[in-house]
Amino acid sequence: MSEVIRTEELKKVYANRVQALGGVSLSIKRGEFVGLMGPSGSGKSTLLHIIAGLEKPTEGKAYLLGYDMAELTQDQLALVRQRHVGFVFQFYYLLEDFTVLENLTLVGELAGIKNAETKAREILEYLRLSHRLSHKPSELSGGEQQRVAIGRALMLEPDIILADEPTGNLDLAEGRRIFELFLKLREEKGITFLIATHNEELKGYFDRIYRLKDGLLEV
Ligand SMILES: Nc1ncnc2c1ncn2[C@@H]1O[C@H](COP(=O)(O)OP(=O)(O)OP(=O)(O)O)[C@@H](O)[C@H]1O
Ligand SMILES: [Mg+2]
Repeated sequence: MSEVIRTEELKKVYANRVQALGGVSLSIKRGEFVGLMGPSGSGKSTLLHIIAGLEKPTEGKAYLLGYDMAELTQDQLALVRQRHVGFVFQFYYLLEDFTVLENLTLVGELAGIKNAETKAREILEYLRLSHRLSHKPSELSGGEQQRVAIGRALMLEPDIILADEPTGNLDLAEGRRIFELFLKLREEKGITFLIATHNEELKGYFDRIYRLKDGLLEV
């Protein structure tokens, strides 16, 4: 199956008032490197959360690797996410009581992979965080926390990475470095990427871009 993400007429209404998505249909194939752009409030995070099964749509369908995300039980959803999806959260959600190294290692240990710590160290080294391994998230800059959140999403070598403004707190040079790492992972491991970003300077990296405006895709 080469289509890995598909949505059909996705709608999301929050609290019966705010329509965040007004009917979004899209399709992404294995190994594609796709951008999701649009102004603040246009629905980017909502769309990524629904595709990842973190929120349910009000109407419409979201399929990830053929799974109808809204139909899975919580346990099934947790397994699909653990096995297949790396999610980079816009607001990081790091574990505050754990060190940088532990934030990554724990993800690997919970999934039962061997050498979780070695892997975590390698990823953190690439992300230039080796000098922060024993720091807690609150002791890091915004950009450093962002890189930890990216590292965590890479721990399980997911099939799909959904990244919500992964470079929002990074300078352009660091943002380019992250995108180049993502592209390398796409080449080497065939990982599929859907990346929400405001950063017009990074748009040249994408194979193609979906643009959202007021919860609808622009054509
Ligand atoms: N939990 C929520 N409850 C109520 N309304 C919400 C909730 N989450 C998002 N919204 C609303 O849905 C709309 C889309 O929000 P969303 O976070 O998806 O936008 P976004 O494109 O990611 O914005 P940004 O670029 O600022 O991150 C906004 O109008 C927002 O107020
Ligand atoms: Mg957002």
